[in-house]
Amino acid sequence: MNRIFLDNASTTKVDEKVIKAMLPYFNTKFGNASSIHAYGREANEGLEKGRERVASLLKAKPEEIIFTAGGTESDNIAIKGIAYKNKQKRKIKGPHIITCTIEHPAVLEACKHLELQGFSITYLPVDQYGLLDPAELETAIGPNTFLITIIYGNNEIGTIEPVKEISQIAHDHDIIFHTDAVQAVTKEPMDLQKTPIDLLALSAHKIYGPKGIGALFIRKGVKLEPIIHGGGHERGLRSSTYNIPGIVGLGTACALAKERMDSDNIHMKNLRDYLIKELLTVEESYLNGHPIKRLPNNAHFRFSGVEGESLLLSLDEVGIAAATGSACSSKKLAASHVLTAIGLDPVESHGSIRLTVGRNNTKKEIEFVLEELPRIINKLRKISPLWTSQVG
Ligand SMILES: Cc1ncc(COP(=O)(O)O)c(C=O)c1O
Repeated sequence: MNRIFLDNASTTKVDEKVIKAMLPYFNTKFGNASSIHAYGREANEGLEKGRERVASLLKAKPEEIIFTAGGTESDNIAIKGIAYKNKQKRKIKGPHIITCTIEHPAVLEACKHLELQGFSITYLPVDQYGLLDPAELETAIGPNTFLITIIYGNNEIGTIEPVKEISQIAHDHDIIFHTDAVQAVTKEPMDLQKTPIDLLALSAHKIYGPKGIGALFIRKGVKLEPIIHGGGHERGLRSSTYNIPGIVGLGTACALAKERMDSDNIHMKNLRDYLIKELLTVEESYLNGHPIKRLPNNAHFRFSGVEGESLLLSLDEVGIAAATGSACSSKKLAASHVLTAIGLDPVESHGSIRLTVGRNNTKKEIEFVLEELPRIINKLRKISPLWTSQVG
């Protein structure tokens, strides 16, 4: 059976060119980049080239990039790092952070952790499309607000937040702005010379790079307190021997994405829009997330009278990989916090599935999905008490 991967927001297949670039750094160029001998220097070249490539994708400076173990670690280093620095620096009472209800757990849990330590956090609501209102955000700013952290593109419903506008508001109020751009990097053009984002998190495995490696952009002059202590790598902000194969992989993935960003995004948008157009003709089907302001790879639906988990399993039986919630929460049966935040009740949340396309998907694959999915929905509805009570 041919399998079709429509779960590209959870992770992506590592590009062959990325694997090829990484391979020598496992055996021939295996040195420790901190060593000064030839092996070390060779590894160090891979490290710095990787840094330049990440910076170039974001239009940032290489010295503004540090490598981490992924998106989660980048978010934690940024949010806790700025929080601890700020607490020390200003010694203000009731230091305040603004975020929103549809953040990834990497941000939400970091904020909850800070809340236990006396920080006060505002979790701003979003509208039915998952959009945050910048005016509402501005009114939430108080005298003790030192950090605003807002997701760039949502990992579940794909909504793209008005991050440029929000970063300008933060800048005007002299507040640090962090964004979790793990899903948005390569899907949205980014120019960090022009946009006043102070901290930005990204992850390699979402952009056809390897797992376990990510980066954090830290604008020149922004000071963080380290949360990992050790040998002092990455300006003391992320100690641990460099993962050179990973860094080379991330750098290569960024360089590739830069080259093919426009064509990849047009390709994904076409497949996504085809899915959306056709699946919205299914009786009682709805699109979750914003109809226009959404990531080019994301299609997220709810189908009345159908249970998402059953849909997922039936799709898997015919070789189609989809997701119900976000990757990290899809094993939990609780309703997704994102779907709850956009106003869905638990039944509607459980009837939702996410299909995320990637650069490797083809129109033929989507045609197969469009044959199978409506058939499966009909089959499930026939045996669903939710559906029969609705139509009966
Ligand atoms: C928006 C967002 N932030 C953070 C993460 C975590 O990234 P990583 O898996 O690299 O830790 C993810 C991964 O699902 C994500 O989608």
